[in-house]
Amino acid sequence: MKTSTSTRPPAEPVASNTAPTVTGRGICHSFGEGELKKQILFDVDVSIYPGEVVLLTGPSGSGKTTLLTLIAGLRDVQEGQLYVLGHELHGATRDELVDVRRKIGFIFQAHNLLPFLSVRQNVELVFELHPNVSVDEATERADKILQLVGLGDRLDYMPDKISGGQKQRVAVARALVAGPQLILADEPTAALDGKSGRAVVDLLQSLAREQGCPVLMVTHDSRVLDVADRVIHMEDGRIVEPAQ
Ligand SMILES: Nc1ncnc2c1ncn2[C@@H]1O[C@H](COP(=O)(O)OP(=O)(O)OP(=O)(O)O)[C@@H](O)[C@H]1O
Ligand SMILES: [Mg+2]
Repeated sequence: MKTSTSTRPPAEPVASNTAPTVTGRGICHSFGEGELKKQILFDVDVSIYPGEVVLLTGPSGSGKTTLLTLIAGLRDVQEGQLYVLGHELHGATRDELVDVRRKIGFIFQAHNLLPFLSVRQNVELVFELHPNVSVDEATERADKILQLVGLGDRLDYMPDKISGGQKQRVAVARALVAGPQLILADEPTAALDGKSGRAVVDLLQSLAREQGCPVLMVTHDSRVLDVADRVIHMEDGRIVEPAQ
């Protein structure tokens, strides 16, 4: 008999006996000031465990990207607790936030490639946050990951000379190149055809399985639902039980 009226995340995580990579409790977030202030996230609880692939779904404007950018340390936490890779982000200093970002691979909803840098240089750029990696090693690692996503023959192309799907794959390569401990992916397959989209999610899933690197992925793409260990559904800034 179902008696629960909870609005908390649906399925239990696969590895609840290990420490979570992400724990958010009571996260609220607003944009704007004064009379224009608008609350976007309401009391969001979220946990992501090592090795799992979690899909984040929900209508446009429900707060998915906002939540992802908070977890990534790209926005200041206003209310609630948010632990990511052992750091408490609420009240974290700039240096701590940079430290967290260095450990996260973020695939943006818009691919955000720098137009004046080549495919290879866009990926190498990640190592600006990793001063211990030499220029030669950065190039070697960028080339290797670009081969892996099928762009080995486009290394020196400029972004305006490659297709939308190829740009998205550069963005995936950029997120993976530094060996992240958490992947946050905002609709990584939206601009891809079925085959390329599949290749990207398979790559993300194998990273989760083989290296324990959890993946939190926003998607509307019904073709990739099967990679999910869990689905978190958001509506109007709240996490709700998904329709069964
Ligand atoms: N920087 C901002 N300033 C003001 N409002 C914002 C800002 N970013 C997002 N919003 C608003 O917050 C709400 C949630 O936006 P968010 O981008 O998180 O939605 P989403 O679930 O990712 O939507 P989509 O599926 O369309 O990408 C929207 O109403 C949006 O207009
Ligand atoms: Mg979004």
